[in-house]
Amino acid sequence: MFTILTGSQFGDEGKGKIVDLLSKDYDLVVRFQGGDNAGHTVVVGDDVYKLHLIPSGFLLDSRVLIGPGTVLNPEVLAEEIDMLGNTGVEVSSDKLGIDAKTSIIMPYHVELDGLRESSRKEKIGTTKKGIGFAYVDKIARDEIRMSDLVDSERLMDRLTEMAASKEAAIRELGGDPSIVTDTELMDKYVKLGQRLAPYVTDVSYEINEAISEGKNVLAEGAQGTFLDVIHGTQKFVTSSSTIAGSACANLGVGPTKVDEVLGIVKAYITRVGEGPLPTELYDEAGAHLHDVGHEFGTTTGRSRRCGWFDLPLLKKAINLNGYTSVALTKLDVLSDLDVVKVCVAYDLNGERLDYPPEDTSLLSMCKPIYEDLEGWSDDLTGVKSYEDVPRAARDYVEKLEGMMGVPIKYVSVGPGRAQTFEK
Ligand code: IMP
Repeated sequence: MFTILTGSQFGDEGKGKIVDLLSKDYDLVVRFQGGDNAGHTVVVGDDVYKLHLIPSGFLLDSRVLIGPGTVLNPEVLAEEIDMLGNTGVEVSSDKLGIDAKTSIIMPYHVELDGLRESSRKEKIGTTKKGIGFAYVDKIARDEIRMSDLVDSERLMDRLTEMAASKEAAIRELGGDPSIVTDTELMDKYVKLGQRLAPYVTDVSYEINEAISEGKNVLAEGAQGTFLDVIHGTQKFVTSSSTIAGSACANLGVGPTKVDEVLGIVKAYITRVGEGPLPTELYDEAGAHLHDVGHEFGTTTGRSRRCGWFDLPLLKKAINLNGYTSVALTKLDVLSDLDVVKVCVAYDLNGERLDYPPEDTSLLSMCKPIYEDLEGWSDDLTGVKSYEDVPRAARDYVEKLEGMMGVPIKYVSVGPGRAQTFEK
């Protein structure tokens, strides 16, 4: 079985937790795009793991793979391997594989990202992890690949070839170009290459073999649908394609192999960084969602902007991803609100729209049209099954399900493994 899982909103929907829950049924869990701009928190008993690159399935028995469509910062990966090792979770090459074609994020990518973001008149609010610049190099065919990193001679050749243009780019943005050929840094990267060499693999081959042997494969998306570089809210997007179809293209698995596409949907909406968020709240309800939902980014610690559930965006996410089912997360955060609102349509200059306009600048002008639903005051965090969810909260879940037209398969009411149940 081949399942693709993606975030349906702007990232931070709680994908890590759902992947962690599902991975016991999957032999392979695979990342297909993005880099350490992603971050997921997995809570296992008293232990809290914050991972950026290693797929969440790692904490169970699955083998986890990092596909060639990702951009990988080897320093961050090494730190994650060490962090897991320190908590007694060994990261052997039996457990983790990295595709030979994976693009490497070099220190100059991180430097350029920071410099470019500071120089922008209108900010994107990137994570400054070098993601966009690493993808630019991939498309320009100037990237350093995993197979270069692990071969010190090739790595030095590539760096020497690239140095002048990277130095010029950094200088042009007012930065210090010495980072490009810094000998200590180069040494560090040669050592990182040697350390990571045992993990190199062919991800497409592994997945296709696994599927043909009847094994289960889960492709785990990073970020969310509206951060997609093609279909998102340009220019306030990340630099990779975050939607489900991207899993097939990036992993080298044909679309005929896909069995399920699971969308992760937060019971409200959040966004980090700039860009339109039609239902954004600046009132007490917004503060409630932010505080009760602990809405701070895992990667940058930035405060997340919060708003009511946005149905027009969700309808578009369903089209873009072809979801066969949905996991609804963070329902518990909505407790203690007198009224829970759902944005059912937009008003754009007096015209009612049931679907988001394709042009981002028009989306930023849309005003939400809300339907009010009755709130509930019960604490949901201890609820273990859907039957025990209070009626008003179930009405909310079922209203969303009816409006989305996609079955809600899972509901989550907290970060722990026991706090997600089947609907
Ligand atoms: P970049 O991916 O660092 O280039 O940032 C581009 C945009 O995507 C910014 O608005 C970031 O805040 C956002 N972004 C990137 N990764 C994540 C994520 O994992 N969750 C939520 N937002 C993200």
